[in-house]
Amino acid sequence: MNMTRQKRGTWGSKFGFILAAAGSAIGLGNIWRFPYITGENGGAAFVILYLFFVVAIGLPVLIAELTVGRKTRKNPVGAFKSLAPKSLWKFVGALGVFTGIATLSFYGVVAGWALGYFFKTLLGDFSQAITGAQSETIFSQFSSNPLFAIGLFFLFILLTAFIVKGGVSAGIERWSKILMPVLFVLLIVLAIYSLSLEGAGRGLEFYFKPDFSKITATTFAMALGQAMFSLGLGIGIMITYASYLSKNDNLVASAGIICLFDTVIAIIAGLIIFPALFAVNIDPAGGPGLVFVVLPSIFARMPMGILFGAGIFLLISLAALTSTISILELPVSYFIDDRKWPRKKATWVISLVAFIMGIPSALSMGASDYLSDIPFFGMGFLDMMSIVFANYALTIGAFFISVFVGYKWGIKAAVKEIELSGKKFSLRSVWAFLIRFICPVAIAVILGYIMITGNYLN
Ligand code: ALA
Repeated sequence: MNMTRQKRGTWGSKFGFILAAAGSAIGLGNIWRFPYITGENGGAAFVILYLFFVVAIGLPVLIAELTVGRKTRKNPVGAFKSLAPKSLWKFVGALGVFTGIATLSFYGVVAGWALGYFFKTLLGDFSQAITGAQSETIFSQFSSNPLFAIGLFFLFILLTAFIVKGGVSAGIERWSKILMPVLFVLLIVLAIYSLSLEGAGRGLEFYFKPDFSKITATTFAMALGQAMFSLGLGIGIMITYASYLSKNDNLVASAGIICLFDTVIAIIAGLIIFPALFAVNIDPAGGPGLVFVVLPSIFARMPMGILFGAGIFLLISLAALTSTISILELPVSYFIDDRKWPRKKATWVISLVAFIMGIPSALSMGASDYLSDIPFFGMGFLDMMSIVFANYALTIGAFFISVFVGYKWGIKAAVKEIELSGKKFSLRSVWAFLIRFICPVAIAVILGYIMITGNYLN
């Protein structure tokens, strides 16, 4: 086989692409992060802001990424190179590729915890009633054990690499078609269970009855950051996925469906978590430990709580897996397209790099004092990685992509690409307005806020 002329991957079907892209968006962001950030930021009022940002900023940027990807049929670096040759724009793509590898390195660690907690719950570790403090000790013993932290992280990266090495339709699409339906069914069953608990109503009230006095400048920053992270925008994941699309796909409709899926799943995740917390009188503002510390402390107090618990951690693991495959595919596509590496080599080499890069994150929950509280940043290595990459790099990337499509490549060229499907883009002027003015300005304001206060999403 001539390695230098491999055929570029394509999706087998439109449905397969939608499932893979929705799987990419739906991840830890929806099921782990959304409930605790909502809990910390006062519930319903935050949810309303989040929904606003998904529609006003997330959707237009997603349409922009899909359009750039399908037009160029390249990875983000190649895409910028082909639309703006001999310019610095390729560095926006390169930032995306690097951010992908870095994101994989800490995201995989958290995903590994979810996998570990799935086994722990099944093995009966939470079948006795425990207090919140005991649950905290269990979590810190677990996450500070280097064998568990690194071993489970390794397993997660291995699973991800196994799927990605199979290619676009035979690997990513095939597995998305298996994993996503399981994820949906699990989600619905858990939500029905949680809603049927006594006292669930108070959780719903917290979740759906807005208290606008809770909205502050930070709430805006958190809601926008969450919308970007949850949709996985700004680093070119969606450019990569759209580069495997055919010209007759309707990009606007696809973007709408992906946003809808991502948002509905986040909302349903809240329907699982909040009724369960309120049913046993637990404070919903439990922070990042909400899922790993607070929930396990209530399993024993709930009917069939162990099954519920195992279901939650399986759900989180599956959602994370459909996201890590897209995060790995991003750098893999670059090395295949631009460096002409065979897919298997690209997959294994990048997975190894992400694994090595992730070891400090895996050791930062107590296994190493130095990594648990790194000088200057005043936080653990994993927290630092998550703030630098998931927040800063992602938001900066989304800013540049909206500026690129709005001003450099241009609305006219983008709309021409969008309309290749044969369908007129009737909301083109609304999209143009959002991508040229609202997205970059809002993101710049938020970035300014991050720079000044330095306390964004930590
Ligand atoms: N978009 C992915 C998530 O929500 C990264 O977890």
